[in-house]
Amino acid sequence: MKVIGVVSGKGGVGKTTIALNIAAALSKYYNKRTTLIDCNLTTSHLSLYLNIYHKPNTFNHVLREQSSLDEATHSHESGMKVIPAALGINELDGIDILHIKEKIQQLADQNDYIILDSAPGLGRESMGTLKACDEVVFVTNPNIMSITDVMRCNEVCKDLGIKTLGVILNKVYKDKYDVGKNDVENITNLPVIGSIPYHHDFRKSLAQRTPLVTMKPNDRVTRELIKLSAKLAQEPLPSYSFGGKLKNTLKFW
Ligand SMILES: Nc1ncnc2c1ncn2[C@@H]1O[C@H](COP(=O)(O)OP(=O)(O)OP(=O)(O)O)[C@@H](O)[C@H]1O
Ligand SMILES: [Mg+2]
Repeated sequence: MKVIGVVSGKGGVGKTTIALNIAAALSKYYNKRTTLIDCNLTTSHLSLYLNIYHKPNTFNHVLREQSSLDEATHSHESGMKVIPAALGINELDGIDILHIKEKIQQLADQNDYIILDSAPGLGRESMGTLKACDEVVFVTNPNIMSITDVMRCNEVCKDLGIKTLGVILNKVYKDKYDVGKNDVENITNLPVIGSIPYHHDFRKSLAQRTPLVTMKPNDRVTRELIKLSAKLAQEPLPSYSFGGKLKNTLKFW
């Protein structure tokens, strides 16, 4: 089992969006046993993205020893498993986020990948998430504020000895106002392992409570998200038939 944290210094850059699409793609297209966990306990959103906010058992309950991991795990149509966090602020009572590592280790036998959707910044919550990771991937937008915050997070990861896989550029316009891929690599000293365009389909995906990779399997942006998950899992890149359709065989590679 490998635990990958989806992390950023700055909020709102697209961590939850990327984390849920990566987890769904690893399950659906690469047959990887994958569990996605919402570690953003203070401002959790994952349950809203997947329409599972009404479930009675959450990661908060697990951390308080009120539910088992099994009870708090929900199956998604993509094949991934999801452990949401609770929405209410009083659900934070009695939780020590630094305990997540030992809880997550209990999932080792049943998973190839655990994807952690982190809170932004470098507070106690994010630090608890970082300490539970084997590897982290940074999400940033192509602007100088979020890139600077990636550099801060990277310093902390270096101090903690956590392996960094690289940077995912999200909400990319590719116009003259974006900081370009090469500049991001030079500034951060990290490889850019994915570049996801700014696209209105993400709004639709949120409204439909469905990850883009399952909502639009043959979409251009989906292709980028699948490529990204292939890189993370060190799997071969997917192949497409003429016309850009995903080949059916992909699932069985
Ligand atoms: N590539 C994209 N194109 C357009 N909109 C996007 C893209 N990625 C994410 N969004 C939108 O940006 C908003 C923030 O995304 P998201 O919730 O994934 O960010 P986050 O980093 O998890 O935020 P937080 O730091 O609050 O946890 C959402 O409305 C989401 O739909
Ligand atoms: Mg989020």
